[in-house]
Amino acid sequence: MAAQGRIVWVSGPAVKADGMSDAKMYETVTVGSSKLVGEVIRLTGDVAFIQVYESTSGLKPGEPVIGTGNPLSVLLGPGIIGQLYDGIQRPLRELSKASGSFIGRGITTTPVDMIKKYHFVPKVGNGDVVHPGFIIGTVQETDLIEHSIMVPPDHPGGVISSIVSEGDYDLETVLASAEKDGQNTPIKMYHRWPVRKPRPYHKRYDPTVPLLTGQRVIDTFFPIAKGGTGSIPGAFGTGKTVTLHQIAKWADSQVVVYIGCGERGNEMTEVLVEFPHLKDPRSGKPLMDRTVLVANTSNMPVAAREASIYTGVTIAEYYRDMGKDVVLVADSTSRWAEALREMSGRLEEMPAEEGYPSYLASRLAEFYERAGRVKASGSPDRDGSVTLIGAVSPSGGDFTEPVTTHTMRFIKTFWALDAKLAYSRHYPSINWMNSYSGYLADIAKWWGENISEEWLSLRSEAYGLLQREDTLKEIVRLLGPEALPDEEKLILEVARMVKIGLLQQNSFDDVDTYCSPEKQYKLMKLLVDFYRRGQQALKEGTPLADIRNISVVSLILKARMDVKDNEMAKLDQLDVQMQEEFKTITGVKVSN
Ligand SMILES: Nc1ncnc2c1ncn2[C@@H]1O[C@H](COP(=O)(O)OP(=O)(O)O)[C@@H](O)[C@H]1O
Ligand SMILES: [Mg+2]
Repeated sequence: MAAQGRIVWVSGPAVKADGMSDAKMYETVTVGSSKLVGEVIRLTGDVAFIQVYESTSGLKPGEPVIGTGNPLSVLLGPGIIGQLYDGIQRPLRELSKASGSFIGRGITTTPVDMIKKYHFVPKVGNGDVVHPGFIIGTVQETDLIEHSIMVPPDHPGGVISSIVSEGDYDLETVLASAEKDGQNTPIKMYHRWPVRKPRPYHKRYDPTVPLLTGQRVIDTFFPIAKGGTGSIPGAFGTGKTVTLHQIAKWADSQVVVYIGCGERGNEMTEVLVEFPHLKDPRSGKPLMDRTVLVANTSNMPVAAREASIYTGVTIAEYYRDMGKDVVLVADSTSRWAEALREMSGRLEEMPAEEGYPSYLASRLAEFYERAGRVKASGSPDRDGSVTLIGAVSPSGGDFTEPVTTHTMRFIKTFWALDAKLAYSRHYPSINWMNSYSGYLADIAKWWGENISEEWLSLRSEAYGLLQREDTLKEIVRLLGPEALPDEEKLILEVARMVKIGLLQQNSFDDVDTYCSPEKQYKLMKLLVDFYRRGQQALKEGTPLADIRNISVVSLILKARMDVKDNEMAKLDQLDVQMQEEFKTITGVKVSN
């Protein structure tokens, strides 16, 4: 029986209702006479604590609270791509049309257009036996996305009967029925799934395939795997949003879920205004043809912000189940954690560090655990992935605060943004000494097989130079550069070249904005070869100044912007030029 209670207390987005003994944890309820959407987040006896996803102003004790019997769910079907949702999958554009204001209360709209027709192509026939996850047909959702219609995970499956023939159907059409144990269960183009429950899959793979972002400091130095987890913490203005945009645009994934979590109102507006104009660089089509935006501006109720990451990740898993690589970026999880903190405070829970609830860590863990590269359930065989990347915005860039430290426990790639680097306009301002990737060993094989067997050793050598520089910097600071032998001065010189020629990358430069894996490798190899040859030349007595001054140096430093991805031969020519110039300077020495 549906719970029917009464409001006894209202505090912002938190409501207490009694008479709720029939309610279940995480059940959605309608709150008050204007039927606001809420969710039961704690039950004590017959008192339910409810977070309300809409403004509660005017709500009064005594008003009714009615259980729906259902957990907070999203609708999964064609029409999701290209949408702009709030945290509980309400379409913001439709809502603003329906209510005039930005977001009206108690207004119900469907998350997708239920009467829009899609051209359905059946992939199974009558008499075929299907199970959850089986693809019964496909529709073209957008120019870029073919959408598989799957038997829902909670469908009993069975023998297909009365499947429709190829043609145009809307979402409510029964496309087929599956019969099991005398029961016929219909299959439509859509189904619902509770957001807090991970969608099932057949099996999980090790994270051995890199997610290629075209960003050198990421792919070459601190890579993330498809199905991996990453975090990008940084103070205001250090480049979180720019980096996440670059990943959304360039990563080799088919679907992007972009969750904007109430950074300052105007920042979110930027995303909402900018994103719809971005082009998918590979197809030239709008990026929105493969993107879902989930937006929470700071003026929207905090409870919806809390829900938004679950809504986002559930949508991501759904496209994963079709066999797609999905990237979910959340900007920023700090704002999400603040929503958790605010709600916890309203409920007068015992606070842990800095006022965050003690379950902050377990919530973060639950979120990041939903990343993975998997073999989907059902037939035909298909692999998909959900990669989860969260920005963290610790105030003042202090990485010892709770959201950053807890996040670090659950992610494997850490891109630490550095205000000093950003200030000196070294972008991306990812600090190479504080960042790390736990996927390096797993994905090295991919680079070895697809780009070069030397990749891992070159990467170690290049990174080793940066580490040596970091130690030498101390000595330079204390004693000045002249205290160093030429051998070590060469290290400083090459480290400088690695920073300028490889680590720095301008998102706003037409060529530099994306760097293919092959180009990343060749640039790195040029730099490491320069170091090796320089070392050799020093040994043979060539002055350091001569090494520094060969003209190929400046060409190597500019190659990231001068050499396009389809001009790899130019990088090979630079290598030839470097060899010759080294011959000349060492030759001069011999003839002396
Ligand atoms: N890779 C990059 N290339 C060029 N400029 C960058 C890059 N990353 C950051 N910036 C600069 O830094 C500014 C702030 O970045 P932003 O991503 O908005 O910071 P945050 O989200 O951390 O507050 C950008 O407007 C841009 O000028
Ligand atoms: Mg930002």
